[in-house]
Amino acid sequence: MLSVEALEVAYGGIPALNGVALGVDRGEIVALLGNNGAGKTTTLKTISGLLRPLRGAIVLEGESLVGAPAHRIVLKGIAHVPEGRRIFNRLTVRENLMMGAYPRHDAAAIAGDLDRVLTLFPRLEERIGQVAGTLSGGEQQMLAIGRALMLSPRLLLLDEPSMGLAPVLVEQIFETIVDINRQGTTILLVEQNAAMALAIAHRGYVLETGTVVLAGTAAELSDNADVRRAYLGE
Ligand SMILES: Nc1ncnc2c1ncn2[C@@H]1O[C@H](COP(=O)(O)OP(=O)(O)OP(=O)(O)O)[C@@H](O)[C@H]1O
Ligand SMILES: [Mg+2]
Repeated sequence: MLSVEALEVAYGGIPALNGVALGVDRGEIVALLGNNGAGKTTTLKTISGLLRPLRGAIVLEGESLVGAPAHRIVLKGIAHVPEGRRIFNRLTVRENLMMGAYPRHDAAAIAGDLDRVLTLFPRLEERIGQVAGTLSGGEQQMLAIGRALMLSPRLLLLDEPSMGLAPVLVEQIFETIVDINRQGTTILLVEQNAAMALAIAHRGYVLETGTVVLAGTAAELSDNADVRRAYLGE
């Protein structure tokens, strides 16, 4: 579904990605693991058109995305839940969710997707009229994911959905990610919580200083001695 080849990205001349290559098949959850500064966020931002690569290819179902602006990439069905959530603090939960559907015109389908999001996240339904800035951190993460789902995306890019959340909420968020995937959305998941990510992913990649150093099924990566030492705390 998505193929990334030889991706090179730099910030003001300083390289951040040095030839990243990865692929995501339809229906998969693919985990992108790596330490701070490895280039995980940069990879997602480049896929979603927020950064322009120096070189490399990004192809979604046969169509090149390189050079397309972010709003066109959204229209192709890629929704990005950024690091740090970035919800609209002064808008209500409902308004935030409806912002996610802004490029769409299919009112009946939008209503159906709102129902689906509120079923996935009953907390959001309870707080539908509350301004988003007063939600808890976990609720804000639910809202950020819910807003992305309002696009009815083919591919969901999630950047550190567990960041800053209490363990019980982390489990809930991961369970919901599995539900979203089972309902048909393909997911590229960036996580520092490698154990949780590999527990739900089909396959994964390990990024170090802007390069993919390991790739495999989630089981292969979980069994790999280097992964266990570097990312699973052994
Ligand atoms: N806006 C920016 N300007 C300059 N350098 C940047 C910028 N954003 C990221 N970088 C650099 O690019 C490299 C990759 O950063 P990136 O944010 O992609 O890492 P990451 O894997 O997401 O890390 P983290 O786990 O801390 O979120 C880092 O060396 C970082 O300092
Ligand atoms: Mg990051």
